[in-house]
Amino acid sequence: MGDKLPEYLLPDAAGGGLPVHELRAQFPVLQQKIHGHPLAYLDNAATTHMPLAVQQAMQRFEQHDRANIHRGVHSLSQRATDDFEAARATLKSFIGADAGHELVFTSGTTEALNMVAQGLWAAGPSKAWLREGDRIVVSGLEHHANLVPWQQAARMSGAELVILRPDAQGRLHVRDLQAVLTRRTRVFAVTAGANATGERPPYEEMLALARAAGALTVLDAAQAVGHDMPGLAQLDCDFMAFSGHKMYGPMGTGVLAGRRAALELLYPLRLGGDMVDWVSYEAAGWAQLPARLEGGTPNVAGAVGLAAAAQFINGAGKAAIDRHLHGLRAQAVAGLSAINGVTVLAPHATQASLVSFVSGDVHPHDIGTLLDERGIAVRTGHHCAQPLLDHLGLGPTTRASFALYNTSEEVDRLIAAVAHAVKVFR
Ligand SMILES: Cc1ncc(COP(=O)(O)O)c(C=O)c1O
Repeated sequence: MGDKLPEYLLPDAAGGGLPVHELRAQFPVLQQKIHGHPLAYLDNAATTHMPLAVQQAMQRFEQHDRANIHRGVHSLSQRATDDFEAARATLKSFIGADAGHELVFTSGTTEALNMVAQGLWAAGPSKAWLREGDRIVVSGLEHHANLVPWQQAARMSGAELVILRPDAQGRLHVRDLQAVLTRRTRVFAVTAGANATGERPPYEEMLALARAAGALTVLDAAQAVGHDMPGLAQLDCDFMAFSGHKMYGPMGTGVLAGRRAALELLYPLRLGGDMVDWVSYEAAGWAQLPARLEGGTPNVAGAVGLAAAAQFINGAGKAAIDRHLHGLRAQAVAGLSAINGVTVLAPHATQASLVSFVSGDVHPHDIGTLLDERGIAVRTGHHCAQPLLDHLGLGPTTRASFALYNTSEEVDRLIAAVAHAVKVFR
């Protein structure tokens, strides 16, 4: 199959291809064998690996600048503060934020989305953004991290939760959003890329529509941020969340970015040091953003690593990365669809960098286990998107997801191993 690949998929191809093998050398973890086979790591939608450049940036911080930030007058503390704020600036530029935006470091997408959902009701019935009788509209493609916090927000505030259900192919439609937007719609939350199917909803149009209707708009960019997506300043997006570990950065890092005015509406949830302006025994006044939402000592080495990951992605080029990933996905969709009994979800999602499939009666865990015996790492299950798979009438799936270090040979191995597994287990 490799000889039929488009030019841009060939390693070191002339004309703007991604130097895959050169980049791969940045990831020593990929050079190991699993059960005697070279590791083919195809679980990147769950977690990508970290290049040496990111590891070295974090190590440099730990070895030279490590100290607590913001509160110190000594040199190390000042250097650590400078590192942290430089990381913030790098990431703001990476996501295309402008002067009206602010960026808050979090432990990941889950924390960021909880900060938004809880922050909009926690101020109480008289002051909170969300109140009884309001409406929260959430897309039906979401990871549990962008659904469960909204279920709770609806319960706590008395707002109504409306799910924007996808069609039978898993697509969201703008006209369906139009039909549920009312004067009382205060929040609209949607993903920029569904992790269970690879679907890319028309989120630009949807965010614009919801915002024009007066809602605060929330974008889960966990599966999109390392890719060629519009800059924050181009989107009608009040809040955007993503995780470091899905974009070649460290685990336990992430971002909540958004319009400063929207972030100011959030009741801070992490109360304590560094997020206050003044404190008496009886009360406290909040600091300005971003400190207000960053109570306690942050993961400074993590922020440094996350910024290095952004620079790594910029170095490779988001457009070149996406061409490579879309090509791998196209190859996987073609090969897997040709296997008797295998059905690929959202085959139309050509912008995806993952492929999710079911295989009749053969359980995904059996497929995943057999693939592991051949050194191929995929994810099986509901991918934390159980309501979506239920809605589509599906159970668990097998998901292969690609990163810039994956090769067409690995996709060939995936296709051959799935064909074998289906034959063995059927
Ligand atoms: C679309 C999406 N949103 C949210 C999350 C949660 O991310 P984290 O576990 O890093 O908080 C994931 C993780 O798979 C995801 O794919």
